[in-house]
Amino acid sequence: MTEKKKILRALAGETLDTPPIWMMRQAGRYLPEYKATRAQAGDFLSLCYNSELAAEVTLQPIRRYGFDAAILFADILLLPQALGAELWFVTGEGPRLSTIENQEDFDKLKSAAEIDEVLNPVYETVRILSRELPSETTLIGFAGMPWTVATYMVAGRGTPDQGPAHALKDSNPALFDQIIDLLIEGTIEYLSKQIEAGAEVVKLFDSWAGSLKGDDFDRYALEPAKKIIAALKARHPDTPIIAFPRGAGERYVGFAEATGADCVALDDGVSAEWAAENVQKGVCVQGNLKSSHMVTGGDDLVRETRKIVDALSNGPHIFNLGHGITPDADPENVQLMIDTVRGK
Ligand code: CP3
Repeated sequence: MTEKKKILRALAGETLDTPPIWMMRQAGRYLPEYKATRAQAGDFLSLCYNSELAAEVTLQPIRRYGFDAAILFADILLLPQALGAELWFVTGEGPRLSTIENQEDFDKLKSAAEIDEVLNPVYETVRILSRELPSETTLIGFAGMPWTVATYMVAGRGTPDQGPAHALKDSNPALFDQIIDLLIEGTIEYLSKQIEAGAEVVKLFDSWAGSLKGDDFDRYALEPAKKIIAALKARHPDTPIIAFPRGAGERYVGFAEATGADCVALDDGVSAEWAAENVQKGVCVQGNLKSSHMVTGGDDLVRETRKIVDALSNGPHIFNLGHGITPDADPENVQLMIDTVRGK
């Protein structure tokens, strides 16, 4: 029998001597080989839909660093595109989408049953990866969470405070709920297909959960997570799920228990000591080094990395950053972080 992969052991609740490690946005612009393949593809979206090249950029950080997990190369905004939203990326600025301002805009969208036509190349990327990844590397699929994806669909772009989505949910909750419900259904379909294609773990990115306060957090972050996880567990009971309600703060406490997630990913707004005390109770946590250390490196990186490893060493832990690595990061600092975690 082959030995169970380290990430899967941590997700099953095992405390390992050395935490397994991967990194958000590990395939990205800080790597020269990524930039070369992206240029070959033409642009970011063409890269996402070119299964061979998307698999290639997914494999690049595995070859360079030997991370314990590979994350499918795609984007959370492919689902709205598959639902009929227009999507394009402005170089140096970020995503742009057609907006949803009223019922008429919403009614133009497709149903969750129709997404595969656009998303089939993503499932093909997963199939290629499950053949080509080293046997010790875990393949992680992912999707954006309804609230976060809705913030882009409503505003048509990234916004500093998610203002347009807050305004729509407050002024027209009936319409906003239809968007959320469609995204819940679409996300369940999308992740089920990724799992059927070979994803061994899935991660739910709720990057803007932190702007939801009080009851809104329950209604738009916790409840959708609960529904998506329940549906996925019914279809794929053995596939672990990582939830990332970024910026949840105090609401990290009990989030895994309330939603059925196997692991919560921590951003760098909470300390590892606090998380060990309040979140890691029998539940795997992932995180949470500040990504700026990948730019600045040095003794600070080593000290902060050790601090996190130590603080979370009494329970299941997957080492990661608190958010994605940035394009200005130095690839050598990534190696230093890995060597520090692995005690080299
Ligand atoms: O982590 C990985 O290596 C896997 C691939 C991945 C990407 N995006 C590739 C990407 C994942 C998991 C995502 C998730 C994603 N996409 C999120 C949630 C996580 C987070 O960062 O909070 C969000 C909010 C998006 C939407 C998105 N995609 C934005 C706002 C941007 C522009 C910002 C930027 O960094 O340019 C993207 C583009 C994007 N997605 C890039 C990559 C590698 C950069 C595109 C490029 O090559 O120019």
